[in-house]
Amino acid sequence: MSDHKKVDEHTGTETTNHEWDEIQELDTPMPRWWINIMYITIVWAIGYMIVMPAIPLINGYTKGIIGFSDRTRVAVAVEKMHEDRSVNSEKLVGASIASIQNDPDLLRFATQQGRTLFGDNCETCHGRRGQGVPGYPNLNDDIWIWGGSFADIKQTINYGIRAEHDDTRFGSMAAYGRDELLEPAQIDDLVQHVLGISGQRSDTVAAARGAGLFAENCASCHGDAGKGMRENGAPDLTDTDWLYGGTAALLRETIFNGREGLMPNWDTRLSEAQITALSVYVHSDLGGGE
Ligand code: HEC
Ligand code: HEC
Repeated sequence: MSDHKKVDEHTGTETTNHEWDEIQELDTPMPRWWINIMYITIVWAIGYMIVMPAIPLINGYTKGIIGFSDRTRVAVAVEKMHEDRSVNSEKLVGASIASIQNDPDLLRFATQQGRTLFGDNCETCHGRRGQGVPGYPNLNDDIWIWGGSFADIKQTINYGIRAEHDDTRFGSMAAYGRDELLEPAQIDDLVQHVLGISGQRSDTVAAARGAGLFAENCASCHGDAGKGMRENGAPDLTDTDWLYGGTAALLRETIFNGREGLMPNWDTRLSEAQITALSVYVHSDLGGGE
């Protein structure tokens, strides 16, 4: 081997002067662009380490000259969200539905909050998105036992129905059979009457007897025509929408044993702003509000 650079005759490339068994090792240089990119990345890395947080130390890390921190950035964002939220929450307290609907930002906030609160607190009874299950009313339709205005809904949520609260809504459907207020035969006649007024097939003779019993015993709460009365929480018995069920067997069960559905009061569990948000959600987003 000699120290002079040699050039391989076949390729015209310099060799490294290494040779094994007469095989020469060529010395092909790295392409210039590749080398340049490598230098640029080294410069970039050094620059980055100076400017940004980079090197772990025993206690902490190098902060970099601009003091950037994801943690602070998130903290600031969270702080801002809390501020927005409390501003919006304050706006909700005592607001009318019209003023909320006129403020798109506030309406969006209330609906989102209401949807979350509904999922956490109400779906266990009222079903997914308030679709309702027997005994627990559907909150999406236009049929309301206690009223579907914003104020009505808010009052129901605040104080509940048959809840342990002085201002709770109250109305009772007595157990006419179990408490022996009526004879079993009279209950059968009433069942036929209710079948008749709700447009189902009924025994007309029995239903006619039932009509008299209905006027005496039931009309005070459900109305003469059985259309229901909100002030008593007595449902309309003439539509096809049933809280407990409209078959002969279920009607007999209701009249025999009575019904007292319980809806908890929320005024002690949720804030005024949260209850307003829920009322907006039930009234406007679920869509059955009046
Ligand atoms: C423990 C079960 C239960 C929970 C939880 C519950 N409800 Fe109710 N809710 C009821 C029952 C039962 C009724 C019907 C009461 C009756 O028979 O009059 C009702 C009725 C209502 C009504 C009146 C419907 C009408 O037709 O007038 C509204 C509005 C309502 N609930 C909203 C809510 C909201 C909002 C929540 C969550 C904060 C909620 N409910 C949580 C059981 C519940
Ligand atoms: C003191 C008022 C009152 C009287 C009187 C009364 N009801 Fe009711 N009734 C109610 C209330 C309140 C409900 C709803 C109960 C609930 O939501 O849990 C109801 C519910 C019902 C239901 C269930 C409706 C459904 O959608 O599933 C039927 C059926 C019914 N009543 C029939 C009668 C009949 C028949 C009589 C007469 C024998 C009668 N009621 C008398 C208050 C009354």
